[in-house]
Amino acid sequence: MEKIRLNNGLECPVIGLGTFMLSPAEAENSVREALKMGYSLVDTANAYVNERACGRGLRESGVARKDVFLSTKLWPSEYENPKAVDETLERLGTDYVDLLFIHQPAGNWLAGYRQLEKALRDGKAKSIGISNFEGKYIAELEGKWELPPQFIQVEAHPYFTQRELRQTLDRHGIRLMSWYPLGHGDKSLLQEPIIAEIGKAHGKTPAQAILRWHTQMGFVVIPGSRNVAHIKDNLDILDFTLSEQEMARIATLDKGVRYYHRTDEQLVQFAAWKPSYEPAD
Ligand SMILES: NC(=O)c1ccc[n+]([C@@H]2O[C@H](COP(=O)([O-])OP(=O)(O)OC[C@H]3O[C@@H](n4cnc5c(N)ncnc54)[C@H](OP(=O)(O)O)[C@@H]3O)[C@@H](O)[C@H]2O)c1
Repeated sequence: MEKIRLNNGLECPVIGLGTFMLSPAEAENSVREALKMGYSLVDTANAYVNERACGRGLRESGVARKDVFLSTKLWPSEYENPKAVDETLERLGTDYVDLLFIHQPAGNWLAGYRQLEKALRDGKAKSIGISNFEGKYIAELEGKWELPPQFIQVEAHPYFTQRELRQTLDRHGIRLMSWYPLGHGDKSLLQEPIIAEIGKAHGKTPAQAILRWHTQMGFVVIPGSRNVAHIKDNLDILDFTLSEQEMARIATLDKGVRYYHRTDEQLVQFAAWKPSYEPAD
């Protein structure tokens, strides 16, 4: 598995499994099958309400905990809960995570970030991250962090490559983890003729060409899937390399257009919403 080095010296696999919108049963199945076939990175979140299921999938896979890079996210309504990290670990069935994010710049997000820093110092998180902190939010946090984040998780794909944000990230060695890497199931990206043509030239599907593009951009990519055949295909992207010319052709697709537009009203709603967690196993 290809890995990238983080600004704290740790390494992270370049491809993993995302679990957004997967029911607990789907998440358990996808995580178990992904780990069995060689994945070593899984991304979940308080808000996905499938952390217990991801923990079960991990244990059922037979892969040792130490060989899995487990990532999760605190939801804003947890930022001021002093037990949020311990409760998250309990749901996952582990005593540490490899990566802990704050999910949104909503509510008292600085309190949330302080929880990440504490988790890092206490060994409950091996690395930390911010999710959806583009623009003014990362700028504000830059002056306030005691420990810098290792990751930012944001929407990124060939239509929206986070050009502006990447300048800030480069200053601090913060790595980008792409969400909606395949367009969240929207067919337009998967059906782009340029991508189909490039994939075909390498004997790969459009999805595989897109995922390889992410890793060659230096991003960590976590495609979500409940389909074991897709999960298998998505891992099979490390035996070919897109040429500079192919990367340049894909760069022409950058329209600076996101699929998802978050509003300030939504941030207020996020802070108020409390996930209804899965019942204990
Ligand atoms: N931090 C945040 O706010 C945030 C927001 C969104 C997502 N995320 C994270 O990022 C991950 C990825 O985002 P996402 O899952 O929303 O979107 P995505 O990975 O861009 O797309 C998932 C969709 O693509 C399909 N798909 C997967 N592999 C495929 C393949 N090889 N060929 C064709 N279709 C394929 C899946 O369907 P099948 O199930 O049929 O394969 C699913 O409909 C999430 O799972 C989550 O972990 C984070």
